[in-house]
Amino acid sequence: MNSSLCFQNADKSNNQEHLKFQDRINLGAFYTPQEYIDIVWDKIAPFLTFRSVVLDSSCGYGNFFNCKIKCQKKANDIDPIAVKKTKKNFPEVEVFNKNALLNVSRKMFNISYNDDLIIIGNPPYNDTTSMIRNNIKKNTIQVDFDIKTRDFGMSFLLSYAKLNADIICVLHPLSYLVKKTNFNLLKKFVNNYKLIDSVVIDSGTFKETSKGISFPIIIALYKKDKLGMNYDYIQNYRFETIDGHNFALTDFDFIPNYINKYPLKNKTLKEDDILFWTMRDINALKRNRTFVHKFTPNTIIIDKSRLEYYVYVDVFKQFTCLLPYYFGNLDVFINNSLFQKYKKYFFREIIDRHPFLKKYITYDESISIQEAKENIMNYFKILIGDHYVY
Ligand SMILES: C[S@@+](CC[C@H](N)C(=O)[O-])C[C@H]1O[C@@H](n2cnc3c(N)ncnc32)[C@H](O)[C@@H]1O
Repeated sequence: MNSSLCFQNADKSNNQEHLKFQDRINLGAFYTPQEYIDIVWDKIAPFLTFRSVVLDSSCGYGNFFNCKIKCQKKANDIDPIAVKKTKKNFPEVEVFNKNALLNVSRKMFNISYNDDLIIIGNPPYNDTTSMIRNNIKKNTIQVDFDIKTRDFGMSFLLSYAKLNADIICVLHPLSYLVKKTNFNLLKKFVNNYKLIDSVVIDSGTFKETSKGISFPIIIALYKKDKLGMNYDYIQNYRFETIDGHNFALTDFDFIPNYINKYPLKNKTLKEDDILFWTMRDINALKRNRTFVHKFTPNTIIIDKSRLEYYVYVDVFKQFTCLLPYYFGNLDVFINNSLFQKYKKYFFREIIDRHPFLKKYITYDESISIQEAKENIMNYFKILIGDHYVY
């Protein structure tokens, strides 16, 4: 990384100190560490020309302009105090105070269609539906209908496509790309842009965000591309992490290939049914229950011929501490042929925690719980390989 391009130890307060915690959540205002800003400038540097305009449409205090490279720079934020700070910190930058998601056009930032537009930044990412559910957000920010999604971050990506940016290098949750439902919501973006370079970082490295479970954030470089990218491209894309690991979705076999993650419609409960909580990604599994005894709209009625795979998920949950943050938004994964060999240890381990399963599975009483756990650890060592967290 060529960090000499950027000012070091700039005597500028670069955290969102004027906002209360709740406002920070509402605005997604968690400002970016300099190390990541340097990476962004390194990635866009080869694309900078005399025609380039570099825009951060959710600039906070303008941290992304803490860089010596000379070019036309434009910044914007909806928060007037942040805008004031940016103007003071970076007098060379043209600064706007607008809602970047409303009436989106190049004109709103005085950018012409002859300019090469490069967008940088770390837009807010938060799920608008859960914010409303939690009653955190009182006034919802207005968003153009054609870029409206359930997550502000995804709307920001769509806004970059609406601005017809030539290059985009921003931070966003990796889940926007790896989760097929999210990827599909980004149609107008992914049909026109291609991921050409990236690095995956840990959300826990942002000040004040490490309260919850860490999730992977990608510093993604996109280039305008007539063919865009399809989900196949993402499945085969090799993601590199900042700590030198790499993975592709095609490296793994996922549990939804064996069992349903969600309740099936029109299934009625019978007396001897076994119930399981809806499955989402690995981070959700860490928070949620697995086997449950009460039927709700969120419970799956288990197909008993597939019970071993639900056992697998339950035991997987016990061992998630062995997984790195960058797998947090993936589905539970499995090496099925290996699992078949280790299955007896999974059955032995689960019986101690869920004795009611004795009725449905045959387990080997001669295996000690210690032996079961050691063997499950061995399974995970083989499954996770280089990614195993010691
Ligand atoms: C994650 S912070 C990033 C700030 C800055 N780019 C950085 O990384 O240091 C997100 C910023 O988006 C701003 N923001 C949220 N919604 C916005 C909107 N609709 N239009 C413009 N800015 C918005 C917030 O005020 C906040 O400063």
